[in-house]
Amino acid sequence: MAVQSIVVRNMVFEIPEVKDFQPLYIAGNSALSYGHTALGLYSAYLEPFFVKSLRKVIDQIEDEDLREQADRLWRQEAQHYQKHVEFNTLILAQNYPGLAELLSNIEKDFESYLSDQSDRFRIAYIQGFESYTTQFALQVLDSGLYDHRRTDPAFGELFKWHLLEEVEHRNVAFDVYQHLYGGYFYRARMCRVAQQHMFHFMSDCMNIMSSADEVRLRNKRCRITTKQKVMITINQLGMQVRSMLPGYTPHKYAVPPKIVALSEYFTKQASSIR
Ligand SMILES: [Fe+2]
Ligand SMILES: [Fe+2]
Repeated sequence: MAVQSIVVRNMVFEIPEVKDFQPLYIAGNSALSYGHTALGLYSAYLEPFFVKSLRKVIDQIEDEDLREQADRLWRQEAQHYQKHVEFNTLILAQNYPGLAELLSNIEKDFESYLSDQSDRFRIAYIQGFESYTTQFALQVLDSGLYDHRRTDPAFGELFKWHLLEEVEHRNVAFDVYQHLYGGYFYRARMCRVAQQHMFHFMSDCMNIMSSADEVRLRNKRCRITTKQKVMITINQLGMQVRSMLPGYTPHKYAVPPKIVALSEYFTKQASSIR
């Protein structure tokens, strides 16, 4: 049964020590590493917003299976941000100039979405974000990036687990939006709103961290080149456009066997499951 496919896993990860932290922890690549750092920082603010937003509407979901899946979705997201908060202590210990202000800005944004916006806005926002994460997760898990010899295994496992669960719950936010509200144009608009919010944060964050590290660590490899920036933008916009198309549905994705196998792997790794 579909509801059984979403397993809520409690994970225990070994957090590297601050003194051992090196910022190019994904394949030794600046753009990929700082991009993941930005995603981890963003998740610590976005995912609590997801949890609160979903819990506000969950009793309005009349379909029992969908309500159960929505329950499992917020519980998975709650695990994600708690683990990112733990890993983010390594990033915050670097005291990147201007980072605290960026984080405070997104914190205020999500607070205002909770207090000033409608349930429809929040659920459409979540599906807008999830329609990006699903595509990103399928792409990156298939790439083998987290098993690269220059990827720090601790961060590799963290992101592999998080993105695997994004694939597992890929249909839920979309289905909740369709069930409670529906409406193509609003959905498409909110894909843009949600994804652009994250893209701007990621870009600012990556610029701050890479320029600080290039000077501080005297390491030119920390620089993010113009070519890398162009590639990131093309990739992000491609996914955004796909998610905004009228025919978009996360149900159409075929999940490759090696990603399916990861579900079993992480269920075994979990300290407890629900
Ligand atoms: Fe998540
Ligand atoms: Fe998610």
